[in-house]
Amino acid sequence: MISDLWYKNAVIYCLSVETFMDANGDGVGDFEGLSRRLDYLHGLGVTAVWLMPFQASPQRDDGYDVSDYYAVDPRYGTLGDFVAFTHAAKQRGMRVLIDLVVNHTSIDHPWFQEARRDPGSKYRDWYVWSKKKPKNANEGMVFPGVQKTTWTYDDVAGAYYFHRFYDHQPDLDTSNPAVQAEILKIMGFWIQLGVSGFRMDAVPFVIGTKGADVTTPTEQFEMLRTFREFMQWRQGDSIVLAEANVLPETDMDYFGRDGDRMHMMFNFQVNQNLFYALASADTGPLIKAMKATKPRPATAQWGQFLRNHDELDLGRLEEDQRRAVFAAFGPETHMQLYDRGIRRRLAPMLGGDQRRLELAYSLQFTLPGTPVIRYGDEIGMGDDLDLPERNCARTPMQWSAEPNGGFTKSDKPVLPVISGGPWGYEHVNAATQRRDPESLLNWTERIIRMRKEVPEIGWGDFAVITSRDPAVLIVRYDWRDNAVLFVHNFADTPREIAFATGVPGEHGRRLVDLLGDDHLECDEDGKHRLVVEAYGYRWYRVGGLDYLLRRDEIDLAAVRVSGGRSKDRSAGRRSR
Ligand code: NOJ
Repeated sequence: MISDLWYKNAVIYCLSVETFMDANGDGVGDFEGLSRRLDYLHGLGVTAVWLMPFQASPQRDDGYDVSDYYAVDPRYGTLGDFVAFTHAAKQRGMRVLIDLVVNHTSIDHPWFQEARRDPGSKYRDWYVWSKKKPKNANEGMVFPGVQKTTWTYDDVAGAYYFHRFYDHQPDLDTSNPAVQAEILKIMGFWIQLGVSGFRMDAVPFVIGTKGADVTTPTEQFEMLRTFREFMQWRQGDSIVLAEANVLPETDMDYFGRDGDRMHMMFNFQVNQNLFYALASADTGPLIKAMKATKPRPATAQWGQFLRNHDELDLGRLEEDQRRAVFAAFGPETHMQLYDRGIRRRLAPMLGGDQRRLELAYSLQFTLPGTPVIRYGDEIGMGDDLDLPERNCARTPMQWSAEPNGGFTKSDKPVLPVISGGPWGYEHVNAATQRRDPESLLNWTERIIRMRKEVPEIGWGDFAVITSRDPAVLIVRYDWRDNAVLFVHNFADTPREIAFATGVPGEHGRRLVDLLGDDHLECDEDGKHRLVVEAYGYRWYRVGGLDYLLRRDEIDLAAVRVSGGRSKDRSAGRRSR
């Protein structure tokens, strides 16, 4: 049944177990704490939780340096606690995705330890070696400024090993069939323990060829099909959400032209242009990015995000655009990172202005795809720029005005809880915002609820409608004879706009406001006229069809799809 593609209308919430909730009072978040907060997440309305790496790790890259793929880091609990968590999530109808970090291991991983010690070990070929220092050893660093090289000499092995990321993260030779088989085993293991899929780390590097003689890696796209086939054989509704910051030209290679590779990818192209639009009030490049990333197989989906746990990577913008975003959101050097990005959280970037935050989130929730939000964003958490690199935006969740924001009873939290100043837990916390009907938390809950009731966004086809004002973005979605339309004003001044919905006949005349009472009828000339306030946004249903009626219709339609071709395409029209 087509409605089984749960990720098409999901709301995904990303969190790190380490910094979410500490139940045992040792200063480190844990699975028990997370399980206790499941009702909070359920109440917020999220339908899936993405856990950042929680496997055993020496934590030199926040867990993206795994030393045992089959174990929970003891600081977070046990495998038993993990299963209790996935079970509790399932009981609430929530799915769990987990990070799958298989481009590299930690240098501490027993595979690497054995590989470096013993040239005859079966693990030697699991990594990428060179006797001589490769010519391109000083190229291709992912963390410029911090990472000096991509090949490091290992005294024990007597050879150089390749590492796309930090030198403590040796790359696995993913072309090696034995490594591929192990990756499948890891996937199978966690699926068996209750997860619905993976956020796959660094996908272009996982599938790229590696070696001393490789100057331009070639992507081995078939590998993605192997992963998907195996996973869906084990559990039909599991998915992969790929981290692949690639150009639109290759999107189809990642999704697979027949929709047989990655189910979802983060839309980095839209993300960077979205920040440019927020910085400049010029939506032109954003529209271009939306159109460039429009083609995708029917079953594929974009993950739309604003900020994540890494820096806001602006590497794909043009020089003047990047400069505009830096000037608006990260003007000082200590706010910038790796010569290409901004390391701040969203709320400080937008000056804590709730109008602008709502605009940004409203946009994220109405972009083609599935929203992926980040813990703490629902309350507008800030950052701590005294912390190194990306840690500044990874501080513990601020639950209440109790010491350490209610995150831990310990006075030594794993990372400092932001305290004092405008972003301190004393003001910015979930408990206070829960009591305030106008808070960002309650706004987020309402917008999530509404987003779930507008499946057209996740399933439908979009069209950008012209308003002739570059500061205003109007997007319409059509799906199964229904249409919804969204207006966003990026400018800091009110805008008067006139537009035609493009939906023919009577239906196109009425726009029903889904978030308020600002319904719109069109004028004699067929145009809708509207004044949108500074940073204002509107969500409309075209024709004003009653949602609950439609819901039945969707389910019936799904049954029809599963039973063959739909005979009754007029059902939607009748119920209007
Ligand atoms: C991408 C992750 O998002 C980032 O946090 C990590 O450092 C690298 N991959 C290496 O795993």
